[in-house]
Amino acid sequence: MKHKLLALLLGTSVILGACGGAEEPADEADSTEGTTTASGDAEEIYQQNCIGCHGRNLEGASGPNLTEVGGKYDQAAIESIILNGQGNMPKGLLNEADAEVVASWLAEKK
Ligand code: HEC
Repeated sequence: MKHKLLALLLGTSVILGACGGAEEPADEADSTEGTTTASGDAEEIYQQNCIGCHGRNLEGASGPNLTEVGGKYDQAAIESIILNGQGNMPKGLLNEADAEVVASWLAEKK
């Protein structure tokens, strides 16, 4: 009787242990999201929306050079340029979340 009870308990804990490992698919769902707001994505957002006018390395093209833009504007000012446009730069290129990510990244360019 004692042995059967012990075996039952051990068996149960093994099954529970196996179930504990089944949580992983949730992580994969996260990584497939499109635009995320992690700061590591700033360069990617820039590559997708800005290089046409500001160059692959911020060197400028039809738009001005941005390599030292952080010395000229703070993050809030850059964010406002991205959201509202300026001169020949169109407004509304990014949503607010992405604009904030890119602005904080550009504000470091001094
Ligand atoms: C269609 C071309 C175009 C695109 C796309 C574009 N820009 Fe611009 N951008 C310009 C032009 C032109 C100016 C200069 C505006 C002016 O002051 O007359 C400018 C100015 C700026 C400035 C101010 C620079 C300064 O020295 O005054 C920032 C910051 C900036 N852009 C960021 C961005 C970011 C970030 C993106 C991508 C989300 C982007 N731009 C996409 C054309 C563009």
